[in-house]
Parts: sequence; C-alpha cells; structure tokens
Amino acid sequence: MLWLIGNKGMLGTELSLVLEKRGVSFTGTDREVDIADPAALASFAETCCRKEALTWIVNCAAYTAVDKAEDDQDFCRRLNVEGPGNIARIAQSTGARLIHISTDYVFDGRGIQEGGSFRPYRETDETSPVGVYGLTKRDGEQAVLENNPRSCIVRTAWLYGRHGGNFVHTMLRLMNERDEVKVVNDQRGSPTWAQDLAETLAAIVAAETQDRQVPWGIYHYTNEGSITWFDFAREIYNQGRRFGLIKSDCAVRPCTSAEFPAKVTRPAYSVLDKTKIRAALGIGIPAWDESLVRYLEIRAKQEGLA
Ligand SMILES: NC(=O)c1ccc[n+]([C@@H]2O[C@H](COP(=O)([O-])OP(=O)(O)OC[C@H]3O[C@@H](n4cnc5c(N)ncnc54)[C@H](OP(=O)(O)O)[C@@H]3O)[C@@H](O)[C@H]2O)c1
Repeated sequence: MLWLIGNKGMLGTELSLVLEKRGVSFTGTDREVDIADPAALASFAETCCRKEALTWIVNCAAYTAVDKAEDDQDFCRRLNVEGPGNIARIAQSTGARLIHISTDYVFDGRGIQEGGSFRPYRETDETSPVGVYGLTKRDGEQAVLENNPRSCIVRTAWLYGRHGGNFVHTMLRLMNERDEVKVVNDQRGSPTWAQDLAETLAAIVAAETQDRQVPWGIYHYTNEGSITWFDFAREIYNQGRRFGLIKSDCAVRPCTSAEFPAKVTRPAYSVLDKTKIRAALGIGIPAWDESLVRYLEIRAKQEGLA
C-alpha cells in the first residue's frame, strides 16, 4: 500500500489520478493528518499497516507560498523541515520507501556558467537558497536524508496542473479579462505539467515492483526545454486562442522583473539537468510545449470546447 501525503494539492491531485489509472493500491491524506505532528502521522501509519503493509510513502505536502513564508518562518519550517523529517522517520520505522518532493528554489537561481553560457543545475551542485521557502525546502531535504537515507528526493520547478492556482490558470483568466498582459522576460525555466511529474513518480514506484529499483538519492525532473515566463505566456495565449479557452484578443508584452517587485527575488535561471532521472528510469521526458497543448486540450474538452 502506498500512502500519498498532500493528496489534495496540485501535484497530489494529479498523482491520485495517475495511481488510480495504474491500479496502484493507495491511501491519501492532506491537512487532516498534520505532517508537523509526529503522533498523528504514527497513528495513521499504524492504522494503514494493520490493513496492509506500507510499502511506499510519497510526500507532496508542503508550505508553498514563497513570499508569505518570509513573515511566517516558524510555520513554514514546521511544514517544510520538521514535517519531512517526521515522515522520513515513519518510513524508516515501517520499512516503507519514501519519495519526497523538493524544488529548484534550493539554488540561488543565478545560474552556473560553463563555456560562456549557463548550464542546467545538476543534483550534485551546491545548494544556496535565497528565501525562507527555499531554505526550508533545502533543510527539509537534509532532514529526509538524515532520517531515512533510503529516500528519493525529486526536485521540480514551474508546475501547473488542473488543481489550484498556477501560472497557466492566472494567464488564462487575465487574458480573458484584459486587452494586454505584461510578463517577465528575464527569468528562465522549464514549465512542467504536474501530470507528467506524477507519471514519473509512479514510474519510480513501478520500477521497484519490476525489480529495477531506482537508486536512492536526489533527482531533477521538469518538462524538457527552457524558456522565459513571457515565452510561456505567449504560447498559453496562442494555444488558448486555438482551443477557444481565450475568447478575445490580448497583447502579451515582455517586461523585466523590476516591474513586478516581490519580497523574494525570483530565480533568473532555474533550469534543471534531468540526465540522472532519464537514465535511472529509461524514460523520455515530454517537451514543455507538447505538454502544454495536451493540458489545454483536456481543459477545453472539460469545458465542452473541443
Ligand atoms: N507549485 C510549484 O510550482 C512547485 C515548484 C517546485 C516544487 N514544488 C514542490 O512540489 C510539491 C507539491 O507542490 P504543490 O504545488 O502541489 O503544492 P500545494 O498545491 O500547495 O499542495 C500542498 C498540499 O499540502 C497540504 N498541506 C499543507 N499543510 C499541511 C499539513 N500540515 N499537513 C498535511 N498537509 C498539508 C496543502 O493543504 P492547503 O492547500 O490547505 O494548505 C495542500 O493540499 C511541494 O513540495 C512543493 O514545494 C512546487
């Protein structure tokens, strides 16, 4: 039995659907089993184990409000550091294998230059988080590895999916409301469909049952390709118009990050190197634009537009 923690969040919702589709036996919890409360976690694990052995725990729960975290440091630390540590201890004591989700924010986002251009961050690159969110996610990774070295940590970035607030939803709404949207053109990354990541997490679990265990450690996963938020917005607009999700013309204009000041400086470069996960799973990774089209197509069908 797999225990999916954070099953009502953006990634957790997609992973629930993928596990259902693959016929994986799982149970899901969200806020009702507080990850910051070791007794609550232990009690739920015990209830699970009485029915069926707990073989996997996947933790998608986290404190994810990047700017708010600056004023909410203690609470953020409880969720992003103590929570994963508690979960890792449960995995250790029950013998369950653990997958924990982390972020590109463990890096400072200034990029690493090689041969005159930036190269994607590797799992072995030194972390250097800049804000409370990134710092607590980095410390959460360490708490996981200290308490259960037999864990997979999957760092991702720029997620969107059907559940919850995200860039794609915001753009579709604004492009329907306004004649013009301005989007930053000086931050580069890889938009990632949460369903693709969910399929990859399920593939890590499946590899184990097929006797091809994925080695423990840190992995990077995003969709392929790298662009700026402005490039992403332009494609959302083009495809959104094509599928009828955007009803009227809207100009998409580039701007700089200075025009959208935020409490925490956003990474200028957050492209992740995925060589390790591709090799471990023997998978190809969908390109960001192909996945965006698939996502918008599904959304258009759900809205009766396609
Ligand atoms: N979204 C991105 O762009 C992005 C990028 C890189 C990495 N990540 C990482 O990917 C993972 C999943 O992110 P996401 O966007 O799916 O996050 P999300 O939508 O915020 O989901 C997190 C879930 O955890 C729940 N939760 C909050 N506090 C909890 C607690 N004390 N105990 C149990 N559950 C609790 C949340 O409930 P409430 O909604 O009620 O708070 C929510 O359902 C996180 O580790 C995040 O750091 C996300």
